[in-house]
Amino acid sequence: MSFLAPYLLWIKALHVVAMVAWMSGLFYLPRLYVYHCQVAPGSAEGERFKVMERRLLKQIMNPAMIVTWIAGLLMASIPGVVDMHALWFPVKLVLVLLMTGFHGACSRWRRDFLNDHNRRPEKFYRIANEIPTVLLVLIVVLVIVKPF
Ligand code: HEM
Repeated sequence: MSFLAPYLLWIKALHVVAMVAWMSGLFYLPRLYVYHCQVAPGSAEGERFKVMERRLLKQIMNPAMIVTWIAGLLMASIPGVVDMHALWFPVKLVLVLLMTGFHGACSRWRRDFLNDHNRRPEKFYRIANEIPTVLLVLIVVLVIVKPF
């Protein structure tokens, strides 16, 4: 994919913009679940949270995650961008797979709220809310500092 080399910085800019949009959703959706736990199933507020959660996941988080992955893999496919002997990239991919798994969990939890079947306490979502923060810090340090 060396023909993409002249566009590397444009692809990286798209990658970082999409990553920011994805992260903003991964920070906000569990927060919505915390508030959703505080209202009665079937109430007007509960129905409003369902609309907000669906739009955030479907219209922002899903497209942003897909663009982050495509732009990231396109950059990795350009010869010389990633030193395949260095460890930072495979470790980053493992952390990004964990982030993608968390996205999947958020999607499952949304379906439980949608069907008024959520059984997890508010505290569960407050703790879950910290997971993308920890992963973000580790991923950004890895890709910018490249410590190993
Ligand atoms: C989804 C799969 C991902 C892949 C395949 C991927 C791959 C890459 C590659 C190959 C680069 C270029 C590295 C360089 O120029 O040295 C890069 C840059 C970057 N990635 Fe990712 N990445 C992914 C997800 C993420 C995520 C989830 C984050 C943050 C949470 C992230 C943050 C960054 C940042 C901040 C840069 C710019 C680093 C710089 O300018 O030196 N990436 N990514």
